[in-house]
Amino acid sequence: MKATSCKKPGEPMNLFDLTGKTAVVIGGNSTLGAAMCEGLAGHGARVAIVARNMDKATAVKEQIEQVGGAAACFQADATSAEDLKRVLQEVTLWGGSVDILMNCPGVNSSTPFFEITMEEWDHIMDVNLKSVVLACQIFGKHMVEAGKGGSIINISSVSSDPPLSRVLTYSTSKAGVNQVTKFLARELAPNNIRVNAIIPGFFPAEQNRKILTKDRVESIMRHTPMERFGDPSELQGAAVWLASEQASSFVTGALIRVDGGFGAMMI
Ligand SMILES: NC(=O)c1ccc[n+]([C@@H]2O[C@H](COP(=O)([O-])OP(=O)(O)OC[C@H]3O[C@@H](n4cnc5c(N)ncnc54)[C@H](O)[C@@H]3O)[C@@H](O)[C@H]2O)c1
Repeated sequence: MKATSCKKPGEPMNLFDLTGKTAVVIGGNSTLGAAMCEGLAGHGARVAIVARNMDKATAVKEQIEQVGGAAACFQADATSAEDLKRVLQEVTLWGGSVDILMNCPGVNSSTPFFEITMEEWDHIMDVNLKSVVLACQIFGKHMVEAGKGGSIINISSVSSDPPLSRVLTYSTSKAGVNQVTKFLARELAPNNIRVNAIIPGFFPAEQNRKILTKDRVESIMRHTPMERFGDPSELQGAAVWLASEQASSFVTGALIRVDGGFGAMMI
């Protein structure tokens, strides 16, 4: 779809208007996912918050409703195809067909290489990568069948390439997320479904709390030109832009960094 034509100065362009769109945010109860749910809802989308933990999801829903937005919570383990298929049925009954899918569940661990067990490996790969493939299959097929186009946004990481020290499994899973994103961008382009990833830098959250030790934080700050952590709200611009078919109509297969410059320097 063509993005926009020239407007008079002062006339709103509505490039970022998501009114009438239904967004599914898997892991919408996460620190970063919650902020992006609020960003999408703030621009008019109905937001389906999909989470394992209903407490945090309900708090996100209430936050959105308090400012007049529309949201609902749906319970699922993101690694379960059965759960995701059920949630697809529930979401379509609630909000009609899905226009926007965002994948952001995540787990991490800094286990030294020789101590990584295959149980831990499988768990991290399942939550961070298998869940993305499953959701793209289940919700992506639905989006293709609905025939309205749409936007899929995967949450990758600065560790996806090159890898960060100490978090091999996490880095490998996120490298996989980048591959899935680019593969599907090509696969789904004929259906006008755009597939992109956001690469967040460092944002203190539950999954990285144990990993952000004093020496790690110092080295992150040395390597981040803006010399600070990100605030989750700083992801909203990229999320809304990628979700909007007007604002990012010709953007697919892109990995968008929101990292205070972390990816722009080697030493
Ligand atoms: N915080 C950062 O600095 C940072 C940087 C880059 C990427 N990310 C990514 O952002 C996303 C959100 O993470 P966050 O940093 O907000 O952390 P977080 O700890 O706040 O959230 C992680 C979420 O994943 C959910 N989750 C774990 N296993 C699940 C499962 N089986 N099914 C459903 N949900 C499950 C948890 O319930 C939790 O809500 C993750 O993909 C993470 O890898 C975070």
